[in-house]
Amino acid sequence: MAEPIFPEPELIHARAPAKINLVLRVGHPRDDGYHPLATVYQAVGLYDEVTASVAEPGVFEVRVDGEDSDAVPAGDSNLAVQAARLLAGEAAEPVGVSLAITKAIPVAGGLAGGSADAAAALVSCAALWDLEATTDDLLPLAARLGSDVPFALMGSTAVGSGRGESVVPALSRGCYHWVLAIADRGLSTPAVYRRYDELGPTPPEPFAVPDGLMSALVTGDPARLGPELINDLQRPAIEAMPALRLLLETGAELGALGQIVSGSGPTCAFLAADQSAAIELSTALSTSGTCRAVRPVAGPVHGARVLAG
Ligand code: C5P
Repeated sequence: MAEPIFPEPELIHARAPAKINLVLRVGHPRDDGYHPLATVYQAVGLYDEVTASVAEPGVFEVRVDGEDSDAVPAGDSNLAVQAARLLAGEAAEPVGVSLAITKAIPVAGGLAGGSADAAAALVSCAALWDLEATTDDLLPLAARLGSDVPFALMGSTAVGSGRGESVVPALSRGCYHWVLAIADRGLSTPAVYRRYDELGPTPPEPFAVPDGLMSALVTGDPARLGPELINDLQRPAIEAMPALRLLLETGAELGALGQIVSGSGPTCAFLAADQSAAIELSTALSTSGTCRAVRPVAGPVHGARVLAG
């Protein structure tokens, strides 16, 4: 077939997953205001998609649609735009990009949706600009963009330290079935951390991810993992949104093997024995009137990736 006279503009599609924290231990704030974390991330099968296409050099623009898109900034404060600008600094020639984000991850939900967009922007722009960057090359840029961005690039299951940006893959067997219960509004992450400090917490000694959780992950048995879930931000998140207490209790009564507020909330994650138990739990939770929406998801899944075609 003859080459088209006007070739189609190149479009690079990428997607990146939401995360939950299976353990989130939070220390006293550091001098820079960030809190030291000992956390275990798991990437779950709920994805934002980012499409990158060439724009004039120096132009960085974004369009957002999908879930909660009105709540996502469309200018330079958009984390995906910041990611593109940062990566552009690594390109040999001036570049630009037009990004289109399709959101499925709730905004301000404790699922690192903005970080997923930044990670997807990094991989899509690297491909668009032919930078031949590996995940390892992109990790330091990701860390500059936000605490959860390196994990959004890496995916799977990982232990996080520092302010969350330092990630090391964790040994985990099998597939876990979760039900994410989404609240009808978001929570501000800095506000939840502030409330955590006001509560006068005593971080655990030693400050580390508990061995029990790491051993449970190696068994691949959700009944072992359920009781090991811990989140130090759960109490301040519930104070900010008291309805979460009833939601967590309802999930437990409906047979979840474990339940936890995800990150700084307000999304709650309920662990089920298998896929059919997750679907049953989703139906029961969605008719309980304790949350806005439910999403059955499985994890771990891969990190930010360019999609073929
Ligand atoms: O790193 P990121 O920009 O995602 O963090 C958002 C906010 O969450 C920070 O400005 C800070 O208030 C809070 N945070 C924190 N300690 C962390 C991570 C985030 O206090 N380890």
